[in-house]
Amino acid sequence: MPAICKTLEPSEQNIDFCADLLRSGKVVGIPTETVYGLAGNALVEESIRKIFTVKGRPLIDPLIVHFPTPSAALEHIEATEKFEELATRFWPGPMTLVVSKKPSIPDIATAGLSSVAVRVPSHPVFQSLLERLAFPLAAPSANPFGYVSPTQAKHVQITLGERISAVLDGGNSKHGLESTIIDLRDPKVPTLLRHGPITKREIQHCLGRKVTDLTKSSKVGRAQTAPGMMTQHYSPNASVHLVEDDSELAKRSKTQRTANIYLRKPVTTIDQHDYWFSEDGDLQMIAHNMFALIQRLDQLNYTRINIAKAPHSGIGKAINDRLSRAAIELL
Ligand code: TXA
Ligand code: MG
Repeated sequence: MPAICKTLEPSEQNIDFCADLLRSGKVVGIPTETVYGLAGNALVEESIRKIFTVKGRPLIDPLIVHFPTPSAALEHIEATEKFEELATRFWPGPMTLVVSKKPSIPDIATAGLSSVAVRVPSHPVFQSLLERLAFPLAAPSANPFGYVSPTQAKHVQITLGERISAVLDGGNSKHGLESTIIDLRDPKVPTLLRHGPITKREIQHCLGRKVTDLTKSSKVGRAQTAPGMMTQHYSPNASVHLVEDDSELAKRSKTQRTANIYLRKPVTTIDQHDYWFSEDGDLQMIAHNMFALIQRLDQLNYTRINIAKAPHSGIGKAINDRLSRAAIELL
């Protein structure tokens, strides 16, 4: 029988214990302010290979490498002016930058690309783990490939618990959505690759120029067809069906094994299979609760989940991006 993974409260002693696991080449579940990650030594090929194996992720999908500070990142990447501007404004925080890598980052971390995705996270537990280590941590979201992302330690425990030694419990992920990804490889054309908690408008405001939006483009090539860019991703076991808004959802007929998720708590009659992402429709709160509620309904064995789409502005774009990926059903 496989050893069951330990969920550890984030005491100094437990953070030390996880640092030792990582130094010995193991992978560990860690909290971040976006979603939970599955971390391993980003400079050692064997550790990175373990991340791919545990997640069941194809090797063509590059990973994000996490550093305690922007200056630690600069040891492994080629800096540009825009990198400095964005790093100063948004790090530590939920933004990932794609830049040219130095040879110290192994090819397996970047799926053979000459670029690498880097992030300085703000979660205090992840920060104190990074500060103890002499190497950066590669970490994708800590879910089995294609499943809903984890925002609580127990999500990691349930889905990957038999494959890893430990998960550090840092509470509910604040944002509940993976980081915003900006590609800075072409200095003249900063490009949005994935919507996230920091909006395109905020990035444009910081850079003082337009950002190209490639989030829906098929031009995001196969070599970097990363999970966030693949058509189906973030899918629960139940089939997900999207409707335009809460009022559309209210018109749906109710059936036993179907759950309905509203953006805000309905004011009128509430059915036992009605759920809501927030009390008042606040987009930050919807993002914060979204993945956790979908996983809870999966555990309740609903076979179908109808969900109301968010207004398509601000972080509503990131919310709808994740919901539409969960909703696509492949033949
Ligand atoms: O918030 C987050 O970003 C979380 C936490 C753990 O930091 N991580 C995360 O990782 O979402 P993952 O592996 O689920 O998504 C990695 C994304 C991919 O969708 C891919 O598009 C992009 O990073 N990526 C990584 N390396 C890249 C590269 N060299 N060029 C283009 N995109 C890259
Ligand atoms: Mg992911």
